[in-house]
Amino acid sequence: MEERERTGFPEGFLWGSASASYQVEGGYQEDGKGMTNWDTFVRIPGKTYKATTGDTAVDHYHRYKEDIALMAEMGLKTYRFSIAWARIYPQGNGQINEKGIAFYRDIIEECRKHQIEPMVTIFHWDLPQALVDAYGGWESREIVDDYVNYAKTLFQYFGDKVKYWITLNEQNIFTSLGWLTAQHPPGKFDDQKTFYQVNHHAFMAHAKAVLAYREMGGTGEIGASFAYTPSYALDCNPINVMAKRDYDELKNFWWMDVYGYGRYPKAAMAYLKKKGFAPHLEEGDEEILKKAAKEITFMGVNYYQSCVCEYNPLDGVTPYGTMNTTGVKGSAQEVGIPGIYKNPANPYLMTTDWDWTIDPVGLRFCCREITSRYGLPIVISENGLGAFDKKEEDDKIHDDYRICYLKEHLKELEKAIEEGCDVLAYCTWSFTDLLSWLNGYQKRYGLIYVDREEEEGASMNRYKKDSYYWYQEVIRTNGASLFDK
Ligand code: BG6
Repeated sequence: MEERERTGFPEGFLWGSASASYQVEGGYQEDGKGMTNWDTFVRIPGKTYKATTGDTAVDHYHRYKEDIALMAEMGLKTYRFSIAWARIYPQGNGQINEKGIAFYRDIIEECRKHQIEPMVTIFHWDLPQALVDAYGGWESREIVDDYVNYAKTLFQYFGDKVKYWITLNEQNIFTSLGWLTAQHPPGKFDDQKTFYQVNHHAFMAHAKAVLAYREMGGTGEIGASFAYTPSYALDCNPINVMAKRDYDELKNFWWMDVYGYGRYPKAAMAYLKKKGFAPHLEEGDEEILKKAAKEITFMGVNYYQSCVCEYNPLDGVTPYGTMNTTGVKGSAQEVGIPGIYKNPANPYLMTTDWDWTIDPVGLRFCCREITSRYGLPIVISENGLGAFDKKEEDDKIHDDYRICYLKEHLKELEKAIEEGCDVLAYCTWSFTDLLSWLNGYQKRYGLIYVDREEEEGASMNRYKKDSYYWYQEVIRTNGASLFDK
């Protein structure tokens, strides 16, 4: 689009930062919390980098006041965090654990005390193990009622203090890594039929929770957070353009169309029916999905990278290429679906040490696509750079590469706003350093450095990185400092 005069960020824009319970809290057996699928999974040898766990994580469970004070000092407007289902319902359902309620009530009150808007993710991947043992977790439709019961409990206890709700974090990622590539719990490989059924259960859980929120009188903002990897065709060869089209249907619209329209994309559904992988829908499901789509008020976007699409021959690469979890650049393998698409590297873009493409324009592309396709407001619920950081002898952390990453993404976000996108919030991933699921603690994302490595026993002290001060200034000037020479 033609260059125009800058409009800047709207007044009241929610400058935020994010975390997730398993990645920051620790205290995995404290105050009545039940075991989760992740507590179990990380104990299987070879599953995580150097066998790291979130048993103590970065001790947010005990240090949340210190962390929220640091957020307040920075001027943060919103803190996105997730609630651990197993702290509220240790068995997934049944008896409520009052100590779990008290913990999150304290966090919410602490945020409010500092004028920080709490943004709550109801499910960020840590599922009560009891539900896995009882009926296979997301594999059974029984989970829909348990999830809705849990969500309603949160609305009941916290509904008057929380105005922003995210039903599910990255349904596309936890299901893909859980049932297709065996990298997340339950560690299943190439179970496509179950994968699509699990997703349907998750969609129903999301939809019914959204409807329950409204039925309970909730007037706040509610939506799901999607891990959006936008795609570019390799070139104008029609075969590659169709590969992009197929990728979008199968990898992006499959989720966003259900959240935004309440229906599955037709071409993808036709393909899955042919393959025998299409999910089973019960009578009335379509209506519920459609009703819920009318009630969501934003599309949550976790944006890290874009991809390239090229036609993939039938004997081409599979989705099961090695993922880079070590930070050894170049160790990730190309992936794709034979006969449909593959994702080669983008020669125009640089990558992180974990081989993630760095593409600020991709963030604008996401916003534009959502705006034209769904007409919904947008919450950028995650965006950030995983990198090796070094604490110097004077306790300073000079993460200029992170500042550069965030700055370029925010400049593109501002352009998206200028071009008509209604963006409500932007959350950096993450506020403090935390456990990066499969990549241990060495892949750092925070604005705050936490003194811990893969081994347990370090001080866990907090140190402000250069990016902390930089973001503080961005917030203070409502984004104007991004454009300082
Ligand atoms: C998102 C998740 O996928 O990306 C976060 O919502 C995660 O929980 C983040 O930490 C970065 O991914 P990773 O694998 O580098 O930790």
